[in-house]
Amino acid sequence: MKPPVSQRRVARTPLDKLERYYHQAQRYAWDVDSLGWDEHPLVPRADADRWRVFWKSVIDQQLQADRLAVEAATKLLLRVQEREAKLYYGTMVQDEARHLEGWTRLADPLPETGDEDPYLEQMGQMVMDGETLEEQVVTFQVIFEGLAIDAFRDIARSAEATVLGAMADQLVRDDSIHHNSGVAYAEHLLDDASPALKKHVSGVLKEFAPLYIEHARWRPPARSWLARRMKARDEAQLERNKHTVNEAVTDLGLDPPYDL
Ligand SMILES: [Fe+2]
Ligand SMILES: [Fe+2]
Repeated sequence: MKPPVSQRRVARTPLDKLERYYHQAQRYAWDVDSLGWDEHPLVPRADADRWRVFWKSVIDQQLQADRLAVEAATKLLLRVQEREAKLYYGTMVQDEARHLEGWTRLADPLPETGDEDPYLEQMGQMVMDGETLEEQVVTFQVIFEGLAIDAFRDIARSAEATVLGAMADQLVRDDSIHHNSGVAYAEHLLDDASPALKKHVSGVLKEFAPLYIEHARWRPPARSWLARRMKARDEAQLERNKHTVNEAVTDLGLDPPYDL
């Protein structure tokens, strides 16, 4: 006889969780065509030039992030060994490729801004060139994707009844799976990791931490007028994010990267 659901949950290993996320990701896979392209405007206040440029710069930044995410997820798929991890990362590569398709289709008809976040690029390269699988999973999925979820919630709230808002809603769900699977896999990888490996990963997180702050504060010229007005709110969010990161990382038995 199968144990009751509550006990089955307690008995789950991190790799069992990863397999569950593989099935969940398949179930939730969606189509970019389904975002309401013919029913809704692409972005809020699409008839005003200033707002078209503003939202385009938001989209450009997400496009940049998902261009890096496709590469990072592919690196992980090639690197992982466990059967559950191979299955799971196959779905994550597909998700990130779908995100890239969505952002590209949103970006194409909107004005060119040409602004790229240099700190995001540096963080992406750090993940890509990561010496250990552990540091790649923690920086990319536990930290970066974990913090992206709230940002997508924010976009979804401010862009209701637009294609951008529909896309952000899907990304909240996808990146919740990406983040939770990363936490589960990091638990598996770090469970019996040597003190030297944990020290190495903690060191990488210390280097990653200031880059994340620069990235969070970076605003392209197209958004500088609003950034000034939002400064206090953005700084408060950044403080909350630092606490979130410290908590997530110490839960994995690593050193907190931010001095708070
Ligand atoms: Fe993504
Ligand atoms: Fe993701």
